[in-house]
Amino acid sequence: MKRYLTGIKPTGIPHIGNYFGAIKPAIEFSNSADNEAYYFIADYHALTSLQTGKELVDYTYELASTWLACGLDPNKVVFYKQSDVPETFELNWILCNVTPKGLMNRAHAYKAIVEKNAEAGVTADEGINMGLYNYPILMAADILLVDSDYVPVGLDQKQHIEIARDIAHNFNIKYGNILKSPMEHIEKEVATLEGLDGRKMSKSYGNIIPLFCDEKTLQKTINRIVTDSSLPTDPKPLDCTINKLYKLFATEEEIKAFEKRLSSGIGWGDAKKALFEVMNRFITPMREKYNYYMSHRSEVDEILRAGAEKARRVARKTLDRVRKAIGCK
Ligand code: TRP
Repeated sequence: MKRYLTGIKPTGIPHIGNYFGAIKPAIEFSNSADNEAYYFIADYHALTSLQTGKELVDYTYELASTWLACGLDPNKVVFYKQSDVPETFELNWILCNVTPKGLMNRAHAYKAIVEKNAEAGVTADEGINMGLYNYPILMAADILLVDSDYVPVGLDQKQHIEIARDIAHNFNIKYGNILKSPMEHIEKEVATLEGLDGRKMSKSYGNIIPLFCDEKTLQKTINRIVTDSSLPTDPKPLDCTINKLYKLFATEEEIKAFEKRLSSGIGWGDAKKALFEVMNRFITPMREKYNYYMSHRSEVDEILRAGAEKARRVARKTLDRVRKAIGCK
């Protein structure tokens, strides 16, 4: 049995790129009997980018409801909120003491901001707080706390897992073989979806299609997909954004029929209507579940509470080992 752990930051509304790229594969994964899955909401990591307490509350419920609506089964996944596992923050401090400052200086996210500051001609540390600087250490604490074997992440997070390994190694050199060394798990064929403007769908590009919005908003969003000015009678390229999205939600037969229409000429408006139909059909049952959880917050609370209890049982054991090793009995 291998233990898989991953954290998801509550920093924005989940979009269909998140669904196909991360949520769907993670849920499929957790359904395999060979794996043990620990999925948590990294709410303390989100503090680096959120401005108000209300934002964190709202994004956390939205994220938890999304995972549950997409099929996460709390009986199969230990599903919890990072802030409900205080052992994380105790381990975080201990790990700070085996983490060279230079290692943090080399972290991509931090370096990127330093470089941006240099370009802008402001001081190197402008806008950088210690939460951002120490972010990789807290992430190492998340991972090492439950003896994770594998950490499913996107390529952008690879360095963070390498850092977690370095930190575990440093700790083990000093105190003996206490912490398990984790490996990143990066799906080779993760779907990257095109957003409204044809670039990669991403919150930072402002080109997302939300996973759960009402039908009208979905329709309006789809209508904003950028198209060219060709006439309705002109054939449309099969690699257009609309068709790429259509294929994710339609049956084989629907795809064939739609591609025929595209090739023989169809107005973009009609193509968008067709996309809305299949997308909305796919999302509707999940949206109902999502709306259910969003209006039954205490059920979500209870699921996360029970998950945290399970996570803490494992966390406690690791922390006991660590405390003993460093001389805090
Ligand atoms: N840094 C991750 C991200 O931005 C989120 C995260 C926090 C995480 N803790 C983690 C991912 C532990 C994997 C394991 O996506």
